[in-house]
Amino acid sequence: MTIQPGLSDRDRATLIGWTNRKGADFLRQWAGPTPHFPLTPEQVDDWSDLYTIFRQGRFVGIIQEIRREQDNVHIGHFVLDPALTGRGIGRAALLIFMDILFRDDAIRSITLNVFDYNLAARKLYERVGFVVLRTIESPEKKYTMIKHKPTP
Ligand SMILES: CC(C)(COP(=O)(O)OP(=O)(O)OC[C@H]1O[C@@H](n2cnc3c(N)ncnc32)[C@H](O)[C@@H]1OP(=O)(O)O)[C@@H](O)C(=O)NCCC(=O)NCCS
Repeated sequence: MTIQPGLSDRDRATLIGWTNRKGADFLRQWAGPTPHFPLTPEQVDDWSDLYTIFRQGRFVGIIQEIRREQDNVHIGHFVLDPALTGRGIGRAALLIFMDILFRDDAIRSITLNVFDYNLAARKLYERVGFVVLRTIESPEKKYTMIKHKPTP
């Protein structure tokens, strides 16, 4: 599996196809309240620092470095081909992405937000060492989770 910066027009179209076939709730689950359903190429292009996840050379998902705040990187927009979920691909991809981010000496932690109801994602984040930093109750319960850089 590899993770590379950027997203081709073709893979962007594939991502939009997965999302819009699954519907508005699915878009909100991984992209939050900002993008309007249906997802469009213009909305995807508004997201900076997107990374593409490839498995056996095939496009299987995306993840984003949303912003840097001092020594923390906030990540998000993590989604896989819905036909391939629940097989450990997300876990493997997240471990690689964490490794890429932590290679930067200036980065000491990674944060992300996840909805309370998203049990599969929460379980995955806990398995790779994220812990809840704060709980946001409204408008919908979600958590900010943090992973500190392992000490060598
Ligand atoms: C979240 C996502 C990227 C995770 O990737 P994935 O390949 O499905 O995850 P994995 O298979 O590596 O791991 C998921 C874990 O949750 C478990 N799981 C799967 N479905 C579950 C469910 N409905 N409830 C609880 N746990 C579940 C799996 O068994 C696995 O745990 P394990 O390692 O103990 O076996 C992927 O499911 C996805 O694209 N989901 C839709 C978009 C989304 O919600 N993105 C996250 C936004 S925060």
